[in-house]
Amino acid sequence: MPAFGRALRKDFPLEPGYVPVNQGSYGTFPRVVRQKAIEYQEQCEQHPDRFMRIEAPELLKQSRSQLAALVGCPDPADIAFIENATMAANTVLRSFPFAKGDKVLCNQRMHVHPLRQFSTGYVNVNKTLEFVSHYKDIELVLVELHYPLSDQAVLDKAAEAIDQNPGIRMAVFDAISSQPGVLFPFEAMTRLVQKNGILAFIDGAHAVGQIPLDLQAIDPDFFLSNCHKWLYVPRGNCFLYVAKRCQQYVHPLGINNHYKQADHPAFSFEKEFLDLGAVDYSSVLTIKDALAYRASIGGEDAIQEYCHNLAVQGGALVAEFLGTSVLENEERTLTASMVNVELPLTNAAPAEVIPYFTQTLIYEHHTMIPVFPIGGKIYARLSAQIYTDLEDFKEAADALKKTCQAFEAKN
Ligand SMILES: Cc1ncc(COP(=O)(O)O)c(C=O)c1O
Repeated sequence: MPAFGRALRKDFPLEPGYVPVNQGSYGTFPRVVRQKAIEYQEQCEQHPDRFMRIEAPELLKQSRSQLAALVGCPDPADIAFIENATMAANTVLRSFPFAKGDKVLCNQRMHVHPLRQFSTGYVNVNKTLEFVSHYKDIELVLVELHYPLSDQAVLDKAAEAIDQNPGIRMAVFDAISSQPGVLFPFEAMTRLVQKNGILAFIDGAHAVGQIPLDLQAIDPDFFLSNCHKWLYVPRGNCFLYVAKRCQQYVHPLGINNHYKQADHPAFSFEKEFLDLGAVDYSSVLTIKDALAYRASIGGEDAIQEYCHNLAVQGGALVAEFLGTSVLENEERTLTASMVNVELPLTNAAPAEVIPYFTQTLIYEHHTMIPVFPIGGKIYARLSAQIYTDLEDFKEAADALKKTCQAFEAKN
């Protein structure tokens, strides 16, 4: 079994000298998976009709079955593939038959500063909710979260909002939020909202590959997760799980030939989402190859354990180097494989800090670390990966310190 850390970097097409501590934004994938994607594209071009009509749907079902087994979904037909989490969120929220005046619980706030310092919901999902609230005249019930928070505090805030707002139809919440990159108590939240007769829609964009999932046990109504972030699948790949009881409410954004062709909604769901039309199947088909690569280096538990431990140790190292602290609660439940560290900046305006750090980290320090505001402070989010080790976190810490110093000197 290969050792995790820099020794594994040769498996990934990352350029020399790059300090890759941001798997969380766009993901990256091994050379062997990339090679497989190219082979599927070649197979398609050798006889497009044979591939698109016959071979690709069969291969897609193989990928879907393996993914379903990984995420504890007993019936692979409950899983649809969509190009990314933004589209998957749009698919559910825009096709769901909301009635005028329905309420949706979400952890975001409308009409605030565009940098969302009061929000932990992902911006595109927030904007989709905002769009749907205008378009379908539904009401958004907002839960403001100011981290660090215990899981219980998050649940208590949601329970309070539910008590104060009778008649909520759906709750939209993360499995792991983006900024900050923290684990959300999504299993307990699912139970809480469902106990109150509310549908649970989990944005698990960061979940698959980063944390174990058991959809049968969690039993959400809707669950999405990007395979291109943490599962080592080429970009353009999100899965959407819809419980059978809700499949009648969900149709693809691009309505196709299978709409209302089946006499059973569950059957219709599978058909509608299997017919992806004239698209590049190569990313979806590589799921099984990505899983094979993951198995060859030790499997899910070993990958997730290494990344989590590295995030914890690496975060502590960066915080010590910067003289600040890691965003954690007393129970230490916030960190999975992303860790959030406070930056030593005073009175920094997010609208200036964010573009400055993006430019400087990419072009002067050959890395990228997203930075964002929480409660008047600025935090950086670092991702741990099988191809990184503590040396990368040291280099990232150095880049962050120098960028903070340069930013303060300039202001
Ligand atoms: C929590 C969360 N939801 C949704 C998305 C959107 O993902 P995509 O870019 O694949 O649409 C992201 C992206 O980082 C995210 O972090």
